[in-house]
Amino acid sequence: MSGTSLTRRRFIELGRHTAAVTLAAAAAPASVFAQVGRQETARGRPMPDDVSLPSTPPRSKRPDSVGYAIVGLGNYALNQMMPRFSQSARSHMAALVSGNPEKLRRVGDAYGVPADARYSYEQYDRIGTDRRIDAVYIVLPTGLHADYTVRAFAAGKHVLCEKPMALSSADCERMIAAGRRANRRLMIAYRVHFEPHNIEAMALMRRRAAGNIRFVRTEQLSRTDPSSTPAENWRLDKALAGGGPLEDYGIYGLQAALYLTNEMPESITAVTFRPANDPRFAQVFASVASQLRFPSGAIGQLMTSYDSSGANLVHVRGDTGALIMDPATGYKGHNMRLEGRERRDFSLGDPTVQFAGQLDNFSDAIRDGSTIRTPGEMGLRDIRLMEAIYAAAETGRAVRLSPDGRMLR
Ligand SMILES: NC(=O)c1ccc[n+]([C@@H]2O[C@H](COP(=O)([O-])OP(=O)(O)OC[C@H]3O[C@@H](n4cnc5c(N)ncnc54)[C@H](OP(=O)(O)O)[C@@H]3O)[C@@H](O)[C@H]2O)c1
Repeated sequence: MSGTSLTRRRFIELGRHTAAVTLAAAAAPASVFAQVGRQETARGRPMPDDVSLPSTPPRSKRPDSVGYAIVGLGNYALNQMMPRFSQSARSHMAALVSGNPEKLRRVGDAYGVPADARYSYEQYDRIGTDRRIDAVYIVLPTGLHADYTVRAFAAGKHVLCEKPMALSSADCERMIAAGRRANRRLMIAYRVHFEPHNIEAMALMRRRAAGNIRFVRTEQLSRTDPSSTPAENWRLDKALAGGGPLEDYGIYGLQAALYLTNEMPESITAVTFRPANDPRFAQVFASVASQLRFPSGAIGQLMTSYDSSGANLVHVRGDTGALIMDPATGYKGHNMRLEGRERRDFSLGDPTVQFAGQLDNFSDAIRDGSTIRTPGEMGLRDIRLMEAIYAAAETGRAVRLSPDGRMLR
């Protein structure tokens, strides 16, 4: 293995440990997908469909439980994360922040969040004086992550921020720097690092259960409703969503390629596609495909789209076997099979433990100072790689990368 590949492998390891990574002072390259020309503001949205609120508020927690303010009561917060707080040993909902007063009242009542711990976006900065809140969990559209994270740190709170971290590496660096200044912790909510199949897949690939990895093929594909538009769906609005499917869904394929090869790519080529005259793709890409070359010789082939029949596949092929994860990174229903010298179908228990596992990791880090599995530096690394993917697509040329994911000029 060359010295460079050792360094790249080391950076993957470092990405897991907040304290070990240093931020370089050099300014990040301007993000091709963050040039939006307007600053988006937070605004309330209607109650999502099919939300099931608890009929009795959750029981109170042990005294050292971490109090979270949930910022943005959308689909993911209401349908996935908030119901899972009851499964976390050391996390509870202490406050809510929303731009929809009626939804705030209904959700607050259902979860037993006191009326004086319910905030509008205009009141957000007041959380600094609310001692019930230890941490903020940001579940807003991506274009708002940086601003709400920096303000939470200014208010003295720890931050759990949804993926993707932000719309540019410059914003990611701003978020990390704000956390350091405030001496508060920052975690990116990459839940699959707490999901049993993905954890086992990482271990299998580390012990070369499929031999030396030659290819990682990932497909994160879905079809956005043909009648939707950027005005009513923020995922199609560049100011809030960046380039579109890569940040939203393709990020899982990118992550998998890194945590399964356990390497950083040394170069990237890519293509994007945006159909003419389709209002869904007036601002974001319909499809992005990229190829990553890793120092070991492994090649990553990543496909993601908002205009394709659905898939959530990760397929690793080594020189003696293969690992197939299909679906690979969802909320539940994972399938995983190892082929080759070792043959096995995996059934590793309930994947939904990933939600509480993520909360427990962050709460333990806040209370005990322990390691965050998915720190801000990991989020920054991934945004740098997305910037490289867009730059490669724009120029039609391979982009070479330094071991920390920065583009080499
Ligand atoms: N880790 C995962 O598996 C996963 C899955 C899905 C989503 N996510 C992430 O979670 C975040 C939210 O996604 P989501 O699917 O929950 O989105 P969503 O259903 O559209 O909810 C977003 C919420 O953000 C608030 N908001 C504030 N300003 C807004 C604006 N200008 N436009 C739209 N909404 C605005 C609204 O809450 P109020 O009405 O309460 O103000 C809205 O309900 C994103 O960062 C996304 O990437 C992660």
